[in-house]
Amino acid sequence: MCGIIAYAGSEPVTPILVSGLRTLEYRGYDSAGIGVQNGDGKSAVTRALGVDDLAEAVSGQDWNGGAEPTVGIAHTRWATHGGVTIPNAHPHTSAEGRVAVVHNGIVENYIALRTELSDAGYLFSSETDTEVIAHLIARRVESGESLAAAVRCAARRIQGASSFVATSAAEPGVIVGVRLGNAGGIVVGIGDGFNLLASDVLAILPHTDLVVYLRSGEMASITASGAEYSDLSGMVLERSPARISRNFEAAARGEYPHFMAKEIAEQPEAVSSAMRRRVDFENGVVDLPELPYTDDEIRLIDRVILSGMGTSLHSCMYGAQMIEAVTGIPAQAENASELRYRSTSLNERTLVISVTQSGETADTLAAMDLATQSGAKQIALVEAEGTQATLVADGTLYLGAGQEIGVASTKTMMCSLTVLYQLAVYLGIHRGTLSAKRAIKLVSDLSRLPGLIAEMIDDDDHCEQLAHDRLGDKRHLLYLGRGALHPVAMEGALKMKELAYIHAEGYPAGEMKHGPIALISDDMPTVALAPQGALYDKMVGNINEVKARGGEVIALATYGDTTMPGLTDEVLWVPEAPEWIVPMITLIPMQQLAYHTSVALGHNPDKPRNLAKSVTVE
Ligand code: AGP
Repeated sequence: MCGIIAYAGSEPVTPILVSGLRTLEYRGYDSAGIGVQNGDGKSAVTRALGVDDLAEAVSGQDWNGGAEPTVGIAHTRWATHGGVTIPNAHPHTSAEGRVAVVHNGIVENYIALRTELSDAGYLFSSETDTEVIAHLIARRVESGESLAAAVRCAARRIQGASSFVATSAAEPGVIVGVRLGNAGGIVVGIGDGFNLLASDVLAILPHTDLVVYLRSGEMASITASGAEYSDLSGMVLERSPARISRNFEAAARGEYPHFMAKEIAEQPEAVSSAMRRRVDFENGVVDLPELPYTDDEIRLIDRVILSGMGTSLHSCMYGAQMIEAVTGIPAQAENASELRYRSTSLNERTLVISVTQSGETADTLAAMDLATQSGAKQIALVEAEGTQATLVADGTLYLGAGQEIGVASTKTMMCSLTVLYQLAVYLGIHRGTLSAKRAIKLVSDLSRLPGLIAEMIDDDDHCEQLAHDRLGDKRHLLYLGRGALHPVAMEGALKMKELAYIHAEGYPAGEMKHGPIALISDDMPTVALAPQGALYDKMVGNINEVKARGGEVIALATYGDTTMPGLTDEVLWVPEAPEWIVPMITLIPMQQLAYHTSVALGHNPDKPRNLAKSVTVE
């Protein structure tokens, strides 16, 4: 997704912007650009199709007057309107280059605005929606308004969710940023003799840990010496910076060839962190002080909706099954992009649980808005601190996974499963549906999770070998699972699509004979999730059906299973584990198979094509 970094200070600005863009690369992007104030009344803009090319281009520049500019804005673009071309890369400027803008999000009414501006004589040089913002601001600045006032007017004219940052030659040294809705955030970084604006706190952390997160409808105007805040009516806002504690070093890849490998390996630690200060292993109790509901309010809940997208939706599917099993409350997982437009009967007795590692996924946030309007109770499970989902929810359960740089979610999913597990137990205890004995058992089961994950991770070689020997040359794969392993099968297929670009389908195994079985051939292996459990025999039946049609089967089975080796082509072993822990540990080989297949095919698993870490457009 697009990224923004802007700096006003006294240091040469281009190295700061380039390193900020490198930090933002993980979000996914297809072009990049920098605009600096170089003293001749215009923004000097440089654009390229990659940050490396951009860095090379700006390093050789002879700035006007010989002095290095110290104020500038920069952007990584993830194309929405107009192709991946240099003219479409940001910053976009007004005709004389006096106003420069970088933008995340979509201007929904850009065609009407473009027509209006074209009729008024403004010339467009890109196919983007963003360019209308530059011209709208320029029109106001030309009529004598301040940059902040002009940005405010432009913000009121555009429809849809956007965040953008602008400079004007009429006010050297000033940068204005605004957040409108949920198209990614704007974070203000407060320094000593400098200030920054960025879409992502990671780009600010190398410079300062004092930050202010803008809310929707808020603006910040920064210079080297200060930051001022206001809303779209022009009212001045008082905002105090908060000190954030993020270990930037933890983002370094260390000994691992890819961030994804490192993040898979970090999962034992990540789930421990997700339990910290919440689970009392001695007394078999889960405490979630972040949740504001009384026991009476919890008892009144008559429906639970879990909402998310992609991997987070798969976590929701697991969470729905466990919450319903433990609490008896009807629970269902919903794709947020569907939920947001559906006629629903949410009300104050509904608990909506939104899962989003980024906290900024546009569809998930829109579904949360719907829940707010309906008066439903709202909990968010989020990794990224201070993001929009955390501002909307009644209470936020942070995942505690630590920064995930790989675009594909791994440890954040594992942590969301861990937190959903805790939430199910918490709701069961406070609703009175879970006996003390059963709660103690579930908590004790959870205590085994870090060790079981570590055991699985150590057994990585077999997945690597399978990726090379059996999967790399395939174009299609089928993943089958039942019960709480169905979402794991879905996730396995999603990971394979995302990282290895192999067509893969995840299905509830019972559905297979209703259609997908027609695809079975020696060209389409099946990954069958068949550890011991209540539905084991059913899975054996499905595996037999695949084998009878000449299909190759890779099974996941519990150590000691004597049936699977004779029945299938390969077995990936999982340790014996409690019912609700099995899906979590089965997730590890799903991640490893996709990772190794991606690497075997020569792809970069950290930056899969066309994907973004944070999907802030619909
Ligand atoms: C995960 O590997 C995917 N890249 C994607 O499906 C992701 O889970 C989805 O976009 C939701 O993101 P969120 O958790 O930040 O809301």
